[in-house]
Amino acid sequence: MCGIFAYMGAKVATPILVEGLRRLEYRGYDSAGIAVKDESFTVYKKIGKVAELQSILPDNVPGNVGIAHTRWATHGVVSDENAHPHASVSGDVIIVHNGIIENSRTLRTLLEKKGISLSSETDSETIAHILDYELSRDNNPTAAMHRTVSKLHGTWGICAIFQNHDVMVCARNGSPLIIGKGDNEMFISSDPHALTTHTQRVVFMEDGDIATLTSDSISMSPLNGINKEANITVLEDEWGEAELGDFPHFMLKEIFEQPDALRHCISGRLDRVRGNGRLGGLKLSPLELSKLPHVRLLGCGTARNAAEIGQILIESLARVPAVAHISSEFRTNDPVIDPQALHFAVSQSGETADTLSAVKEIQIKGGQVHGIVNVVGSTIARQCGQGVYIHSGPEQAVASTKAFSNMVAALAMFAIQVGRSRSISKERGQKLIQGLQQIPHLIEEYLENQGPIMEAVNAVKNAKSVLFLGRGISAPVAKEGALKLMEVAYIPCLAYPAGEMKHGPIALLEEGSPVIFIAPNDHVKQKTVSAIHECRARGAKIILIHEKGDSISEEGDINIEVPNVHSDLSPILTVVPLQLIAYHTALELDCDVDRPRNLAKSVTVE
Ligand code: AGP
Repeated sequence: MCGIFAYMGAKVATPILVEGLRRLEYRGYDSAGIAVKDESFTVYKKIGKVAELQSILPDNVPGNVGIAHTRWATHGVVSDENAHPHASVSGDVIIVHNGIIENSRTLRTLLEKKGISLSSETDSETIAHILDYELSRDNNPTAAMHRTVSKLHGTWGICAIFQNHDVMVCARNGSPLIIGKGDNEMFISSDPHALTTHTQRVVFMEDGDIATLTSDSISMSPLNGINKEANITVLEDEWGEAELGDFPHFMLKEIFEQPDALRHCISGRLDRVRGNGRLGGLKLSPLELSKLPHVRLLGCGTARNAAEIGQILIESLARVPAVAHISSEFRTNDPVIDPQALHFAVSQSGETADTLSAVKEIQIKGGQVHGIVNVVGSTIARQCGQGVYIHSGPEQAVASTKAFSNMVAALAMFAIQVGRSRSISKERGQKLIQGLQQIPHLIEEYLENQGPIMEAVNAVKNAKSVLFLGRGISAPVAKEGALKLMEVAYIPCLAYPAGEMKHGPIALLEEGSPVIFIAPNDHVKQKTVSAIHECRARGAKIILIHEKGDSISEEGDINIEVPNVHSDLSPILTVVPLQLIAYHTALELDCDVDRPRNLAKSVTVE
């Protein structure tokens, strides 16, 4: 969704801003813009990609201070006028804003009554005019920002620069902003990922913070009036390259990175001798683990699918009741929270607004939440204050792949760890740990010999709809396969537990309808075979994901085999062909595989 990047220092700002925007591109956006301050402001805005903005920039734009933005339209159509930055009428103040100003209609009316005519349809532009008006009262940019945000309802990450003041003022409420401190230079970003090429020293702004920056100073003056120090965090190096390298797309690169991503996720967290997991971030004693009344997992999209697998593993291995929730529904349903229970917030970005609000709901009601998060220092990770980083490295394709496998691996380690304190024998634990250790290699083995993926692509690419079916632990894998194909190739996809198919989805089947079955060699496989027969009897074309050497292959029209795998861990492997089918189908249909239409990588609005 929207992204902010800003710079002040001694260097020419424009190339730094453009590069910053490029690093935010993966989040999804529809227009981009920059404003640079020299003797006066110059503003460039353009719908489309950052490359299109770049194409309208003159060769040398002078100025060492600037703000930049990628916009994902909420208020107002996608247009150059609605793109950020937005200037005040006097031209003395320029802002970029992430979030939603809920009372913008009222503010617009008030501004119009004062004779200010707004030049865009956005909620954000109101901030520039109010800030300018407030500045005219006492010529103090920090105080003006305080008075401005006190008039706003909603969420904001705001970054403002001023014609007559050599400071940048930032404000945060519900929309992330991170300050990067260099040597006599400052960077601001809504995403830590865009800062790490410049500096590892960052300040995570909290809700209610207002920060006034010069190139060598940060002064924090939160809305609550209690001034505080800017706490500098030194970001650890994450593994992984943010560049494409030899791959044509990030999605493919990230599919192929799964073995290494998993190695980073499990490294140092497996105790082979004791057959146990060793998740350091869990702030729970073995005694507390042994007494857990239940576990609840929260997530959206892919994270929710991984959470469903976590639910199954926690129940089956740890024998603790568990349930996975859709974050966006959680708070709405006024859930009862047991303070003794364990809650997990599962999120790649750590910024998903629906999951964040579920976390806050649990905390308000006295519950504890642990994060299962990829992006270090993200809002959800900090809000939880405890949990497990999954260490997938930067994931830039909108369609999540390597984060899914690492979320499942992290939840499997948790299930083993709790299971060992309750019901699992050392021997069973050792087999599971061994299974986890083998998975990266098994994915490599599969990627070297992917099977008839293109045959499957040909079967689905022109289909009216595609049905994905799996049973037990493969039911959430079916959901993940359907989500992937739908989001990158825009084909209507339906996922069901295989046994539920006969209660409704079977009505869709006609001659040649593609049905993708996920059927690893586990205790529910025979039941899945029955569902295959029912589909075949209605003329369906069966695309079957199964384990190597399994006689179930006789049941498929197109058979894609994966190496043999521990049955509790099969989702990490069976999901890979589904990711590849989605990727190649999107290419066949000429879709923008890394940035599918209408989607954003971080969904920061509820
Ligand atoms: C996954 O392919 C999707 N792009 C989407 O469903 C995503 O998983 C969801 O928005 C949750 O994101 P998060 O993991 O960053 O919280």
